[in-house]
Amino acid sequence: MRSVHWVFVPLLLLTGGTLRISAAPLRPSHAAHAMVASVHELASRAGVDVLRRGGNAVDAAVATGFALAVVHPQAGNLGGGGFMLIRMTDGQMHFIDYREKAPLAATANMYLDSQGNLIAGSSLVGYKSIAVPGSLAGMVFAESKYGRVGLQRVMDPAIHLARDGFALAWEDTQDLRDPELGKFPESRHIFQRDGNYYKPGEVFIQPLLARTLERLAHNPDDFYHGEMAREIATAIGKGGGLIRRQDLSSYEVKEREPILGTYRGYHIVSAPPPSSGGVALIEILNILEGYDLDQLGNRSAESIHLITEAFRRAFFDRAEFMGDPDFAKVPVAALIDKRYGAAWRQSVDPEHASISRELKRPTIFSELEQYAWREPGPLGPESSNTTHYSVVDREGNAVAVTTTLNDSFGSRVTVEGLGFLLNDEMDDFAAKPGVPNLYGLIQGPANAIGPGRRPLSAMTPTMVLKDGKLFLVLGTPGGPTIITTVANILMGVIDYDLDIQEAVNAPRFHHQWSPDQILLEDRISPDTLHSLASKGHTLKLEHFWGDGECIEVDPKTGERLGASDGRNNGKVVGY
Ligand code: GLY
Repeated sequence: MRSVHWVFVPLLLLTGGTLRISAAPLRPSHAAHAMVASVHELASRAGVDVLRRGGNAVDAAVATGFALAVVHPQAGNLGGGGFMLIRMTDGQMHFIDYREKAPLAATANMYLDSQGNLIAGSSLVGYKSIAVPGSLAGMVFAESKYGRVGLQRVMDPAIHLARDGFALAWEDTQDLRDPELGKFPESRHIFQRDGNYYKPGEVFIQPLLARTLERLAHNPDDFYHGEMAREIATAIGKGGGLIRRQDLSSYEVKEREPILGTYRGYHIVSAPPPSSGGVALIEILNILEGYDLDQLGNRSAESIHLITEAFRRAFFDRAEFMGDPDFAKVPVAALIDKRYGAAWRQSVDPEHASISRELKRPTIFSELEQYAWREPGPLGPESSNTTHYSVVDREGNAVAVTTTLNDSFGSRVTVEGLGFLLNDEMDDFAAKPGVPNLYGLIQGPANAIGPGRRPLSAMTPTMVLKDGKLFLVLGTPGGPTIITTVANILMGVIDYDLDIQEAVNAPRFHHQWSPDQILLEDRISPDTLHSLASKGHTLKLEHFWGDGECIEVDPKTGERLGASDGRNNGKVVGY
């Protein structure tokens, strides 16, 4: 560890307590040495602050993660879970899975009534929707194994932000009016000032959370094994939730092998199961590698059609095969095999949309997999509220983290006396196999609820290497659209020669096999929409989604080029 004089400048001073106002950037931010991109300027600053004081990318990522738990309670968290992809400058890669787990008392039918019908909202809001949180364990694990400056230092910025407060942006004050939050007295008190809602520019101070963070900085074990574990379990038990002390004490972080693939000579590194993200991303890219997308034109009907057909096929497979790899056999090798991608490509008609329910898996799949096990239909129901951040340090170490409470503000339950929100990640399981969930996704047995299982995720922290060197650090929130948004951004840079900011800004489109429709941001031209419709696609327009917080390393100069998503209030900070 380097010896540095560690003085934390209260971050509020750096912003003067003024409102965060950001315009959609048109060009990437440049930094010579290091960079953090996240949804909140203060969280990015927390990471950069640590980098400037001798920390590495992992220290910065953990500092940013803790700061997001304070300044972005919609998705930043102590009470949720996430995935951290690390690439050290010597080429070593690590993937840390700190996804939440179902409590030991969880059962497959816990959200069904006596008639076998789903109890509306029961997996989404309130104590029963809470899965065992993994974020604290994951961040502590990452810091102790791959960080440099130690937990106290990376938690300092978050402690200050909670204790001294920060100015709320207009968007935050709108989000904090969430009616479901108001149903839980502790959440209503902390986040809604008992009905006297926060206004833009008001300083939001969280003394309980500051105290919790101080306790954890001193003794992180407390959360899973100590007095804090008792407090958490008691509060959840009192509210009727299933999590007990044993659930907390048996929680474990897993290091997994990242998913690896190639695309047009670039190396792709991404998230393995229990995320479906990396596998689906590589499958999509394998299908598309056989087309000259650049020649067809960026966001042309021809390009969108072919990319959509790749999305459709990857989501068809995702629906059938994906779940927690500790409990279900996931045929990863076959799904990301280039021969399988090529076989799928044969089934794409360049002129006509495929029909999702008529899709037939190429026969080569069974040869590649020698596949016997088969359970039809699962598809994970991720919500759109999650957050992603990317870090590159001056040595070239890089970290991509996607973390979530699932829904915005998770279960809406704040742990009494501790000041942090708990997830509703149980909704990412198949609450009732075969029944479309809130997001229209059909789910099945491979993602069924079971004690100690991790629910399927779409979170896709991803890196791209060029000539063996770090090139892109990518990710976004957005539920199922995470996978297609990462694919869109990646192809923007590789296929269409956009810079990272242009690739983040470019209008997005998404297909998830079921429902059989293309979701498009409403900036796609009417001519293009018309051509797509004439190929037989059903189209649905939305204003926007996602929040790509991404970094490109300029292959010629080594400069860090940051892209923050104008669809949100995100901010790149670097030096
Ligand atoms: N809850 C969002 C995801 O894990 O994909």
